[in-house]
Amino acid sequence: MAGKLTGKVVVITGGVSGIGLATVELFVEEGACIVVGDIQDGLGTALQQRFLQQVLYVRADVTDDGAVASLVEAAVERFGRLDVMFNNAGAGGDFSALIDLSRGGFDRALALLTHSVLSGHQHAARQFRKQGGGGAIISTASAASFQGGWSGAAYTIAKHAVIGIMRQATAELAPFGIRSNAICPGVIMTPIMASALGVPKTRADEFLRFLTQRFAKVHPIGRVGFPRDVAEAALFLASDASAFITGVSLAVDGGATAVTLSSFNAEVAVATREFLAS
Ligand SMILES: NC(=O)c1ccc[n+]([C@@H]2O[C@H](COP(=O)([O-])OP(=O)(O)OC[C@H]3O[C@@H](n4cnc5c(N)ncnc54)[C@H](O)[C@@H]3O)[C@@H](O)[C@H]2O)c1
Repeated sequence: MAGKLTGKVVVITGGVSGIGLATVELFVEEGACIVVGDIQDGLGTALQQRFLQQVLYVRADVTDDGAVASLVEAAVERFGRLDVMFNNAGAGGDFSALIDLSRGGFDRALALLTHSVLSGHQHAARQFRKQGGGGAIISTASAASFQGGWSGAAYTIAKHAVIGIMRQATAELAPFGIRSNAICPGVIMTPIMASALGVPKTRADEFLRFLTQRFAKVHPIGRVGFPRDVAEAALFLASDASAFITGVSLAVDGGATAVTLSSFNAEVAVATREFLAS
């Protein structure tokens, strides 16, 4: 039976861990051929061995524009074309408060989280236009693309800029049938949490179990997110089921960015009763 991505060629950055890995696994099930770009070669080689027919691992540091270009070239060379670009690689970055943020820390965050997404758009769109027939670009943004305070200042600013790239790309590329959408995850249980917060690798799993309970209430839906939740959104945006959808920031956050965390509504009711009784 044909999968939702049968015949499609996909590049996924940051594909050996967390959200990227779950997306590779789901896209393989759905019939895609995938070039995975990452900097963890051991995990990348093992992933390629696991899915030998459908996955090619290429070392690519996404802060290097030439490395992102090489992923698109690898897709064309090995699988003959490119249909989907998933700009997903990232890390927590500089956690400084805005007032303390150095230019160096800010530039590093922008290089990893923003320039990489721009490179992905540019190289994918050039290939799509050369081929004709359009294409899909997906970028992993964040709840921190909508609101301050989810992370450090550099991360928040860099993830806001991802939405800017996606929207400008929509304006310029939609006439060529090229779609660009962003996925904005809430708190997703991936290794990024442990590494970003300085928890040693040996205790990462234990830490994730701890966070899973501790942060369930951050999301109105009552649980944390898992990589597969985000992969399912990526599948929709990569597939022809979303052919009329571009320029969208799709929150995958259990409702977190749709509501206020304060209980204003309940508090104002109590205050009104107190006022009327006074
Ligand atoms: N986990 C969350 O709660 C969460 C929430 C919102 C957004 N995100 C975003 O999701 C994306 C994926 O993160 P994740 O949570 O799966 O983390 P993860 O650490 O599990 O995966 C990130 C991957 O990116 C790779 N990577 C890091 N720097 C790279 C570089 N310079 N070049 C190439 N690859 C590089 C890592 O090796 C890793 O495989 C990131 O963009 C992150 O900012 C995560």
